[in-house]
Amino acid sequence: MPKQIRVNAFVLQSPVHQTPGLWRHPEDRSVEYNQLEFWTNLARILERGLFDGVFIADSLGTNDVYGGSIEAALRRGIHVPKNDPLLSISAMAAVTKHLGFGITSNAIHEPPYAFARRMTTLDHLTQGRIGWNIVTGHSESGARATGAGLIPHDERYDIADEYLDLVYALWEGSWEDDAVLRDKARGIFVDPAKVHRVQRRGNRFVTDAVHLAEPSPQRTPVLYQAGASSRGRAFAARHAECIFVSGPTAQALAPLVADTRRRAAANGRDPAELLFFSMATTIVGRTEEEAQAKLTDYRRYIDIEGALVLFSGWTGIDFSRVALDEPVRHQPQSAGIHSALDVFTRTDPDRVWTLRQIAEHVAIGGRGPVFVGSPGQVADAIERWVEESGVDGLNLSYALLPGDYEDFGTLVVPELQRRGCFKPGYAPGTLREKLYGSGRARLPRTHPAAEVRRLLMPGLRELQPAP
Ligand SMILES: Cc1cc2nc3c(=O)[nH]c(=O)nc-3n(C[C@H](O)[C@H](O)[C@H](O)COP(=O)(O)O)c2cc1C
Repeated sequence: MPKQIRVNAFVLQSPVHQTPGLWRHPEDRSVEYNQLEFWTNLARILERGLFDGVFIADSLGTNDVYGGSIEAALRRGIHVPKNDPLLSISAMAAVTKHLGFGITSNAIHEPPYAFARRMTTLDHLTQGRIGWNIVTGHSESGARATGAGLIPHDERYDIADEYLDLVYALWEGSWEDDAVLRDKARGIFVDPAKVHRVQRRGNRFVTDAVHLAEPSPQRTPVLYQAGASSRGRAFAARHAECIFVSGPTAQALAPLVADTRRRAAANGRDPAELLFFSMATTIVGRTEEEAQAKLTDYRRYIDIEGALVLFSGWTGIDFSRVALDEPVRHQPQSAGIHSALDVFTRTDPDRVWTLRQIAEHVAIGGRGPVFVGSPGQVADAIERWVEESGVDGLNLSYALLPGDYEDFGTLVVPELQRRGCFKPGYAPGTLREKLYGSGRARLPRTHPAAEVRRLLMPGLRELQPAP
């Protein structure tokens, strides 16, 4: 059987995510991002299109590299205003049965004890459809906003390790499976002997309490992460089940994917169980001409300044001082994502990009590829991409919201299904079961969270039949 390709929708609760200016398109509905109905409608569309999940990015930072301030970001609506991703989830879950929810939350900025309860609550309310994208935050503005201060890159991952040990203890080790009796006849709700106190006194986080919420279907949410650096990949190889990657070519991604799988194997984990999702955008029409016409139409709405706000944020370089028609050359960088600039200055030595051309390029599709064409052409491109990069699926961005997701569901998914590389329907069960199979609602024994179960509840049989 061909490899099954998975798909997440990649969104942000803001007027602009990856396609600056497209909110002005008459068919785009991003301006309604404040309305609950916008999100419930999107959830329905994604579930109709058999998307595995919706991944909602977030950060408490703002894009303030361009021009040295947030003025341009505000003017162009680039990631500001931006709402909290958590609060629309219950409503989106109420109108769907299967769609997974990957929510971004920062291990430096969110206090772990309260966060752990929020995730357990959502896992109950969604019947086990919650995932958590673990981020550590790279923006100075986020550090200033929260008072967390600027913490060096690798140290942020050390803090996240400590954070995870604490939340694993709350999720996996505080309540035994049969602690809740709900015994009306005896008037006993919980057996206190089966609820354990979690005591942690780490370098940064301290707690001495039981978890407040009873065990949810998955206990620990499905763990997502996007570590790209060496320390980040080590972190992902230890903790993550699903990993987000981004890159302009499949060849650039392949070694990153292979390296993280190798590291996971060295940790005693099954490397095939790490699922990689790479960023991509699809613009599809019933014919190639229709798709190309859409792209031409979308390009009329590109916001160059908005694109440069994004590009300055990724690279850490203030491009407000560079003339738009000047060629952009390689430059050493102290901060930011180096590859975001190198893609244009190093990949093809014969091609010189002007700043305007870079802005026009990143304005649709951001840092990932854009697949444009008929359903067959887009399906070909996706299959080739998955094959060459070694990823398991796509983290699908859009130019128009929600239209491009609707098109993907109605045009591309049936084509992929015909080729046998896309599920015919949803599997039953929790998000983790949909990803890994029935009986796998909870983390496997090989995951570090399982160690917490053994330490906190010595002598306890495994919480569920061993996978
Ligand atoms: C597809 C994708 C989505 C991401 N989403 C977020 C996000 O929502 N919030 C955030 O703070 N960082 C996000 N990041 C950044 C990563 O968490 C991480 O900082 C980045 O990939 C660099 O990795 P490194 O810290 O190991 O160098 C994302 C990265 C990727 C590739």
